Amino acid sequence: MTDPSNAAQERAWDGTEGELWAVHADLLERVFARYDGALLDAAGVAPGTRVLDIGCGTGSLTRAAARRAAPGPVMGVDLSAAMVAVARTRAAGLGNVTFLRADAQVHPFPDAGSDALVSRAGASFFGDAPAAFANLARATAAGGRLALLAWQAPARNEWFVEITTALAGRPLAGPPPGVPSPFAFADPDAVTSLLGGAGFTDVQVADVREPALFGADPAVARDVMADLLGWLLDGRDADEARASLLATMQAHDGPDGVAFGSAAWLVTAVRTV
Ligand SMILES: C[S@@+](CC[C@H](N)C(=O)[O-])C[C@H]1O[C@@H](n2cnc3c(N)ncnc32)[C@H](O)[C@@H]1O
Repeated sequence: MTDPSNAAQERAWDGTEGELWAVHADLLERVFARYDGALLDAAGVAPGTRVLDIGCGTGSLTRAAARRAAPGPVMGVDLSAAMVAVARTRAAGLGNVTFLRADAQVHPFPDAGSDALVSRAGASFFGDAPAAFANLARATAAGGRLALLAWQAPARNEWFVEITTALAGRPLAGPPPGVPSPFAFADPDAVTSLLGGAGFTDVQVADVREPALFGADPAVARDVMADLLGWLLDGRDADEARASLLATMQAHDGPDGVAFGSAAWLVTAVRTV
């Protein structure tokens, strides 16, 4: 069951957008992987921890959590059937992982069934965030920990600014905080109040920065991002946009491959006892 407030997100993620993320999982899983260690540390994931990964996508953070939490059970939940299918394939061999295709806002997770909630940029798309986090708080044991990675404002994220400008041919503002999008949690005060109202305490929002890594080959990076964000062209000549994006990728090619700056909030909280 998907809540009506998430119908548009379901159309995108359980449709073309999710299919593209599934096809390009090799590259996309690695872009923000440098944040994974800090996220799992912040959530206190250790052997035996029961973990829920919200908006798990193709499951790279879920797998990392499962390796740390074993034998604790780790579940990834996501709206996209295509991404969940890839996640299941990639986690074959890890005996403590399951994946669920569901709307995390309303899914009837068992009461207090998780000790740690984690999410890498997958928890900012809820149509009714207060309801979603109340549901997730209910699913978390008293004293359990939440650790979310969420993007700071678009202008602080070089990857967003440079890639979207190259494709659109002009700077784009990006979505404002508070509406479902990758940038919904850009306002730390709003996130603190959201989580406090949903049943979490000791909410902390830390400024964390890591390179966003798009792989060793600028042309492949261009192909993937042009595929994923082709709708940004909005009538612009496709060859011109692709050439511009390739030039951007080449300009950012260095010792770590194609790398851009990124700025996130590492949001942590504790389930109220
Ligand atoms: C930007 S992707 C991040 C995927 C993954 N966490 C990663 O880092 O690769 C956002 C994910 O959130 C999922 N999502 C959005 N709304 C959701 C909801 N209501 N319930 C479960 N998953 C949701 C999408 O399907 C998508 O896979």
